[in-house]
Amino acid sequence: MLRIGMLTSGGDCQALNAAMRGVVKGLYAKTEEIEIYGFKEGYKGLMYSDFDMLTSRDFSGILTVGGTILGTSRQPFKLMRTPDANGVNKVEAMKHTYHKLNLDCLVVLGGNGTHKTANLLREEGLNVVTLPKTIDNDLWGTDMTFGFQSAVDIATDTIDCIHTTATSHSRVFIVEVMGHKVGWVTLHAGIAGGADIILLPEIPYDPDVIAKAIKRRAKTGKRFTILAVAEGAISKKDAKLSKKEYKEKLEKRKYPSIAYEVAEQIQKRCDQEVRITVPGHTQRGGTPCPYDRVLSTRLGAAAAELIWNKEYGYMVGIKNGETVKIPLGEVAGKLKFVDPDSKIVREAKMTGISFGDE
Ligand code: F6P
Repeated sequence: MLRIGMLTSGGDCQALNAAMRGVVKGLYAKTEEIEIYGFKEGYKGLMYSDFDMLTSRDFSGILTVGGTILGTSRQPFKLMRTPDANGVNKVEAMKHTYHKLNLDCLVVLGGNGTHKTANLLREEGLNVVTLPKTIDNDLWGTDMTFGFQSAVDIATDTIDCIHTTATSHSRVFIVEVMGHKVGWVTLHAGIAGGADIILLPEIPYDPDVIAKAIKRRAKTGKRFTILAVAEGAISKKDAKLSKKEYKEKLEKRKYPSIAYEVAEQIQKRCDQEVRITVPGHTQRGGTPCPYDRVLSTRLGAAAAELIWNKEYGYMVGIKNGETVKIPLGEVAGKLKFVDPDSKIVREAKMTGISFGDE
């Protein structure tokens, strides 16, 4: 009998269900002798032994369903060693559940923080295999995470819609895109949506450069300008602050998010109205796009192969179109940033897109 525990942790995204379906289908192709323990709401379910016994039927018909059938929650890695409100040692509790159920392997679907905890559990002796989920695409070791392309689709749709209204008005439009500390979604949606200015956390901006780009467009008769701004975008001035100073600045910031700060900076410098659109969590919602359905199914099958071969302690990923396994110890704690000197950024600049830096 093969006993598998499965959980989805951190912010949800499209194709989580598709990925779990891939794992389960891949395993059932090997054996019918499987017990699947679906832990509810991420690591919480593992900590408090809250699970459902699932069968292949539970994973049928969920390829196109967004969200996660297991539910999810954020359990910060930095608090993993801090006892919960009732004094429970979280790590010991997770290990206890794992051993009590006599699991052969724990399958974890998650992003950065989730991978740090997965690696901790591996170090504590549990058999763990992970899958890279996040719209942010910031997981080190894989070219692509599932959820990313679906989020790009939604952010692009937003910019497309803004385009049609923008053509009617002489305004500056800012679309604030998710992505946490990295600019992958913004970069791709910005290019796909034909944004005129793209601001990324990896390329600090100068408000004067943005204003110049807007005025240059106005001079050539372009009545509107669209900015795709990453939620983590940062000005050159703020980039010089220490982490602590910047955190303090954010805490005191009168704006709800960076888009509003950029809007004020533009308004001070340009004689054009500014409007802001924040698609927010819609970017994580809805059905996975076909690319993500394929990616997550492949990664699920690759994870099943690892589990079947008893190869534990890996994250499955995709490199140059092929599924690969990367040691969890290498993945945990590393972020994959947009390289400001990468070809994609240089090519975007060649087409006239300003990144607000030069
Ligand atoms: O990591 C995915 C993500 O959507 C980020 O892009 C965003 O910064 C964050 O999660 C939002 O988190 P929450 O859903 O907890 O508000």
